[in-house]
Amino acid sequence: MPLQILRNDITKVKCDAIVNAARPSLLGGGGVDGAIHAAAGPGLLAECRTLGGCSPGEARITGGYDLPCRYVIHTVGPVWQGGDRGERETLESCYRSSLELALDHGCETTAFPLISAGAYGYPRDQAMQVALEAIGAFLMEHDMTVYLVVYSRSSTDLGKKLAADLREYIDDNYVQAHPNRKNRREEVLEAKAAVCGCQQSKPKEEPPAPAMPMGAVFDEAPAEDLDHRLRHLDESFQQTLLRLIDQRGMTDAACYKKANLDRKLFSKIRGNVHYKPSKRTALAFAVALELDLPDTEALLRKAGYALSDSSIADVIVRFFIERGNYNVYEINEALFAYDQALLGA
Ligand code: APR
Repeated sequence: MPLQILRNDITKVKCDAIVNAARPSLLGGGGVDGAIHAAAGPGLLAECRTLGGCSPGEARITGGYDLPCRYVIHTVGPVWQGGDRGERETLESCYRSSLELALDHGCETTAFPLISAGAYGYPRDQAMQVALEAIGAFLMEHDMTVYLVVYSRSSTDLGKKLAADLREYIDDNYVQAHPNRKNRREEVLEAKAAVCGCQQSKPKEEPPAPAMPMGAVFDEAPAEDLDHRLRHLDESFQQTLLRLIDQRGMTDAACYKKANLDRKLFSKIRGNVHYKPSKRTALAFAVALELDLPDTEALLRKAGYALSDSSIADVIVRFFIERGNYNVYEINEALFAYDQALLGA
């Protein structure tokens, strides 16, 4: 998964490069800067002395010393002054210049803290937004795995409005929040019955359907003629996915990058007409293809899944799809805030 959000101490993250939120002198300080220097040992400071400092928005690279990484990339974020002094542009430049340095040094994995979101006072939700957008833009053009290492998992990182809307939506839709509540389908059936006065028969308990892909179209062949049915199965998940990519005029790479997936996984899917993805992967493709809810559920059925009101993660993804927000990084940020598995591989 090209962009992962982790809750960890960045000095513990094993990767090719970790990024430090440094001060212009590069001579160490508090926060993540202090933690990195403490874990790296005196060699890091000795090398930093030779660099001659760093301006806000730029980046410098040193060895990793006693840290579990090859390099430390030092960047200086903007000090928040209300947002009308070019802070956003400087912060975007921090991520971009750090990633370009990592790429130039052959790094395949890079870890960032939330730059400027501490002592420099950048509002956390906006700092997160800039980070996700800047890293996401880079990953649309380059293959790298990037970890965004955050210290908190609180939904306040989402921004107050989104956090409030999402909390309300989950309270209304997540079945576990109302254990005695019928699921949405039963409620709709009963509401219809009340309106038309007819007693909508509750779907009788069907015998478990044969393990066929949902939506398979069978002609009137006699039920026992199973091999006849198998010859007329509906298209597979892989065939549906490739058709939808073509119909949208997307390239394969644009699709799997928008799904926050990597090339290796897509090659496996492309090479196997019967490939069965994880539910998170199938959902990630639905988001990348910007499918509406019915088409998302149809694509999930191809892989044998369904959206469920008793899964917070599904309720969160449905929240974004219903609002037409297909930004996989924003969806993952919300999933992360609720301690759910992220979309993608
Ligand atoms: N691992 C991951 N994240 C961390 C860690 C850590 N060990 N320590 C702190 N953080 C988080 C903070 O919670 C914050 O969200 O890193 C983010 C950046 O906070 P700061 O370290 O305060 O960095 P910044 O806001 O960019 O201010 C930089 O502060 O410490 C000084 O020398 C530093 O002058 C520089 C300024």
